[in-house]
Amino acid sequence: MTDVTTGKHHLELSVFPTSPYYARVHVQRVLEGWRRDDLIETAQLVTSELVSNAIKAHASSSAVTEAAAHVSPEHIWIDLYSVGEEIVLRVWDASRTPPLLRVPDLDDEGGRGLCLVDLLARNWGYHRPASGGKIVWCTLAAPPALPEEGTA
Ligand SMILES: Nc1ncnc2c1ncn2[C@@H]1O[C@H](COP(=O)(O)OP(=O)(O)OP(=O)(O)O)[C@@H](O)[C@H]1O
Ligand SMILES: [Mg+2]
Repeated sequence: MTDVTTGKHHLELSVFPTSPYYARVHVQRVLEGWRRDDLIETAQLVTSELVSNAIKAHASSSAVTEAAAHVSPEHIWIDLYSVGEEIVLRVWDASRTPPLLRVPDLDDEGGRGLCLVDLLARNWGYHRPASGGKIVWCTLAAPPALPEEGTA
């Protein structure tokens, strides 16, 4: 018996400015269904950042030419599954370009999304499946409970 407790909850989205919103709604519904309300806020934040990045990646013209013929460069997808106490969130886009964690200066306009993911996720990374594009994934878990006063 594996630790995987739920099936994948897959959502395909058009590359559109409203897609992060629909992705957040999807994540909320799935986590409510799993009674993981403790992770909804964090998961929605991380989802917004990863889906926004996926959409931006599509805006680069090379994403389309890089995409394998059998994947749709006009779509991205997200899915969620849980492994034990952890939630795994994955976002696929058609670009083969990897995400790059930057350390933004105070006056930099961007470069904060992955910093946030790095801060909130237990782990994150990416891989490029043979079928095309890439998947940026992260794992989320509830923070460990603080010891009650006087019990430490
Ligand atoms: N899905 C992706 N595909 C290709 N490149 C990516 C992807 N995600 C991130 N990157 C690269 O990593 C960099 C850092 O991403 P990050 O989300 O931290 O910053 P940003 O998107 O540039 O700005 P912000 O998220 O603060 O609006 C991006 O500028 C981009 O070059
Ligand atoms: Mg970003």
